[in-house]
Amino acid sequence: MTETHTTADAAVEGPASCCQGGTACGPGDTPRRGLLIQGLTALISTALMAIPATLGGLFFLDPILRKKQAAGAAGGAGARKDEQGFLRLDVNREAIPADGTPVSVTVYDDIEDAWNRFRNVPVGSIWLRKVGDGPILAFSSVCPHLGCSVNFRRAENDFFCPCHTSAFGLDGRKSNEVPPRDMDALEVSMRTAGQADAAGTEIWVKFQNFRRATAEKIPV
Ligand code: FES
Repeated sequence: MTETHTTADAAVEGPASCCQGGTACGPGDTPRRGLLIQGLTALISTALMAIPATLGGLFFLDPILRKKQAAGAAGGAGARKDEQGFLRLDVNREAIPADGTPVSVTVYDDIEDAWNRFRNVPVGSIWLRKVGDGPILAFSSVCPHLGCSVNFRRAENDFFCPCHTSAFGLDGRKSNEVPPRDMDALEVSMRTAGQADAAGTEIWVKFQNFRRATAEKIPV
């Protein structure tokens, strides 16, 4: 009779082998398991919510981070542009004829907006010339009259804008009354490995645009 009673009690209380080590479950085992499951669920939910939040944060921080990287790269070894705005040209001193004949050179820069960066984008052209071992002279090819392109006329040995016949000497000085001022000379810096060096062969130019149709040379 006693054995039958014990078996019936066990059936009512449920299986007794649910705990580790084969020990019987105590009264607090079910609440503990519930707490463990709740904790794990909360942990997984938090981790899942953190993923889109992190991605969103990176999305908005990206332009700021890239701007910092670009600022850090400016002026570094191999950089195309320095902190003062000088751009390294793709021609060196030896490529400019010593007889004073002007050479048209395309200027490249790295362009970026909030989300994109484009490397080596042509941003304009300039005229370069040198006489003998003299300094490299650089002129904007944008006509100071109304912005057409100034050409070199070999036969006349001068610069000429076909739009309204502005003419200039090879030194950039205007030679008729059409243009409001001389051609816009640009600052030149000779360098070696990006460092200022009067005997260097790298040509760096401060490429700028200026207001048109004014006697004054005003950067824009
Ligand atoms: S734009 Fe060059 S002459 Fe007018």
